[in-house]
Amino acid sequence: MNKNKDNCKLWGGRFDNATSSLVEEFTQSLDYDRYLYLHDIAGSMAHARMLARQGVLTPEESREIVDGLKQVQKEIQDGEFSWRVVLEDVHMNIENRLTEIVGSVGQKLHTGRSRNDQVALDFRMFVVESLALWQKEIRNIIESLVIQAKTNQKTILPGYTHLQPAQPVSLAHHLLAYVQMFKRDFERASEAIKRTRVSPLGAAALAGTTYPLDPEMAAEEIGFENVFENSMDAVSDRDFALEALFVCSMIMVHLSRMCEEIIIWSNPAFGFIKLPEAYATGSSIMPQKKNPDVAELIRGKTGSVFGRLISLLTTMKALPLAYNRDMQEDKGPFIDAHRTVVNSLKVMSGMIREISFDAEAMGSALKKGYLNATEMADYLTSKGVPFRQAHNITGRAVAYAEKKGVGLEDLDFEELRGFSDKVSEDIFLILDYNQAVRRRKTQGGTGPESVAKQIEKAVVWLNETESR
Ligand code: ARG
Repeated sequence: MNKNKDNCKLWGGRFDNATSSLVEEFTQSLDYDRYLYLHDIAGSMAHARMLARQGVLTPEESREIVDGLKQVQKEIQDGEFSWRVVLEDVHMNIENRLTEIVGSVGQKLHTGRSRNDQVALDFRMFVVESLALWQKEIRNIIESLVIQAKTNQKTILPGYTHLQPAQPVSLAHHLLAYVQMFKRDFERASEAIKRTRVSPLGAAALAGTTYPLDPEMAAEEIGFENVFENSMDAVSDRDFALEALFVCSMIMVHLSRMCEEIIIWSNPAFGFIKLPEAYATGSSIMPQKKNPDVAELIRGKTGSVFGRLISLLTTMKALPLAYNRDMQEDKGPFIDAHRTVVNSLKVMSGMIREISFDAEAMGSALKKGYLNATEMADYLTSKGVPFRQAHNITGRAVAYAEKKGVGLEDLDFEELRGFSDKVSEDIFLILDYNQAVRRRKTQGGTGPESVAKQIEKAVVWLNETESR
């Protein structure tokens, strides 16, 4: 008996022989697309209602279908639904069960629709929801950063370039740099959402349909503002998913850079932070260890997210129009990346909130590396020494202090004056690390006014995005 024909397979009509079970296993997409069941059901309800309003189905038929779909949804939610690999994907599993429940009227649901526009719609809904969830988690991270920034405006630490001591900065300023990155990620997600909220329903297999469908109405039912303009594009483009995967990758880049700093800062040689015990792990052999595994894992998982972006880019790169089965390989990478970024964002925002910063350790680090050398050069310049000469004079003072094993501020007045007769007593004020930060009053600099303004703006942004 050919089980393809005995109405189990929704496309069985033209086949004489059964599908190989190996092929059934190989071609199924349930492992991933079952997570789209809510979207599939919502899309089907919208389609059924639209069909009724267009007179393709009677209102009674549409109601029966919608009620049947509600029951399917409940069965899935209650764990009572049996997913069947022979039915290939989420779409046919749901439609098959619907027909078992409501009888032959269920077979009318697919009128004027193809799995090609159906899957594109489901996936778009899933991607929009994912992007919105990332945004929520990004807001939490920003909130955590702002909380820490507020209490650390006066904490000073070495700012680095090339990971070498450069100039002192306020810890708040350092943390607020990440606020900027995550705000951009948030905005990128908003942009991506806008382009993803375009309904492909009504494109059918690839060419549109002969039924008098109203794609606008279906889109409205789903809550998408826009409708496809070209049916071939609607069923074959996945750039919305790629764009979201790029947004996701960018978030991971930012998380990973922050992780790198957490790892460095928690090393006892730096000692800038104490990791909360809830976010650290120990070693099975070395009793003293407190490892920053959470940060390391986020940094590590970043690679796998990039991989997912590249994987889908590669899948799409040479596909002719319109739908190709290759495109079934879109959901796996996306869903994996989605889970990774959500978990990473969650764990990171919790960790940031509980990190304790060691201002004293940061203060002693300031004493190593001549972070006030630029101050001395600028000081001499302000007294009329051309900057290049001032740079050179200060360089010689640094070399001298280094030989003595002390900081510039530890040299006595006569020693400093030995390098230039422009040096007077006020030089010590200039060499003070806190002063160096305070004097950076320019827009977006590390000075206290700029930092306070950044915090204020971030708080306004948090309030605005909360109400969105
Ligand atoms: N499981 C398929 C996918 O995820 C659904 C669309 C199948 N369409 C088709 N014409 N075979 O892409």
